[in-house]
Amino acid sequence: MKTLIWVTLFSFVVYVSSENRFFGVKTPDSKLIYRKRVFLEAFPFKKRVDYVEFTNSAVPITAVYCYDYQNSEASVNCTSGGVGYNYVTLRLKSQRSYRLDYAIEIYA
Ligand SMILES: *[C@@H]1O[C@H](CO)[C@@H](O)[C@H](O)[C@H]1NC(C)=O
Repeated sequence: MKTLIWVTLFSFVVYVSSENRFFGVKTPDSKLIYRKRVFLEAFPFKKRVDYVEFTNSAVPITAVYCYDYQNSEASVNCTSGGVGYNYVTLRLKSQRSYRLDYAIEIYA
């Protein structure tokens, strides 16, 4: 019974984390240079869209990690710059009728 609970919990965690989006991979010397929580309240029947812009990194970006705090079909795209650049623009879009709730971490 205990095992079953753990398996259930574990699959839930895996399922939830499937909406996270990772660009690039951090290396042992990458440092967290920017962190932001993006939160937009839900609107019935609407998708919420927001942009995150980060510019002027001293060294090229090695990784951008986006964590979705909810189990939703939200998505994140990189619209300019990104890994290998000194800037990045991310476009975040919530599932229809859902709020947008992301944590963004940029490593360079
Ligand atoms: C990201 O791009 C995909 C494929 O073009 C698209 O389906 C999705 O809606 C886009 N998401 C955002 C947040 O722009």
